Amino acid sequence: MGAILWGFESPLRHFNMNKGKAAIFLSGRGSNFEAIYQSSQHPGANFEIAVVISDKKDAPGLKKAKEYGLPTHLVLPKLFNSKEEYEKHLVNLLREMDVDLVCLAGYMRIVGEELLKAFENRIMNIHPALLPSFPGLHAQKQAFDYGVKISGCTVHFIDSGVDTGPIILQQPVEVLEDDNEETLSNRILAVEHKIYSQAIRLFFENRLKLRKRRVIIS
Ligand code: GRF
Repeated sequence: MGAILWGFESPLRHFNMNKGKAAIFLSGRGSNFEAIYQSSQHPGANFEIAVVISDKKDAPGLKKAKEYGLPTHLVLPKLFNSKEEYEKHLVNLLREMDVDLVCLAGYMRIVGEELLKAFENRIMNIHPALLPSFPGLHAQKQAFDYGVKISGCTVHFIDSGVDTGPIILQQPVEVLEDDNEETLSNRILAVEHKIYSQAIRLFFENRLKLRKRRVIIS
C-alpha cells in the first residue's frame, strides 16, 4: 500500500504542486536570497521561490536570480505616483504568482500598508542583530561600537515599525576580542543564511503560531 501511495506522490513532487511559494524582495547583494534558493533546491524542500522582485536595477541579487532561471521583476518605485500605487502593483504581482510568503532579503524599504494588509503575518525579514537591540541600518556596527559581547541575528515578521515585528528565530554570535566590524558581520551573515531558511521551512510546515506578539513554534 505504502509503495502505491509513493507512486502517486512522486509525480506531484516532480511538478512542485505541493510546495509553498515564497517571493524574495531584495535591493542588493542577495546572499540571503542565494542561501534560501540553495535550501529550496534540497530534495524534500517544502517551498520554492516563485519570484524575485528588486527595486534596484543593478542589484547583484537580481542578476543571480536570472542566472538561476527564476522569474524576476524589476519594479522601480519612482515609476509610480505614490507608495500606495507601487505596493498595489507588487501585491498584484504576488497574487498572480500565487505567493504565500514574502521574504525580505536586504530589501532597503519600509513596507507600507498595502503590502502589510494583503500579506498580514506573511512577510518575514532578517536583521543582523539580536532585536530589539540595534534596529535600523548598520546594526552590526551599532552593536560592535556599543561594545556588546554577544550579537547575532533575528528573523521576524514585519509590522508597520522598523524591525519591531514578532520574532520568529534568533541566534547569538559571540563578539571576539580581535573582531572588527567586518569579521563580526561575516560571522553573523553565515548564521543569517542558516536561520532564514529554517524559519521559512517552519512557516510552510505550518508550525508558526502567533499568540499576541509571541511566535510559538509547534
Ligand atoms: C543582511 O545583513 C540582512 O541581515 C540585512 O541586509 C543584509 C542583506 O544582505 N537585512 P544580502 O543582500 O542578503 O547579502
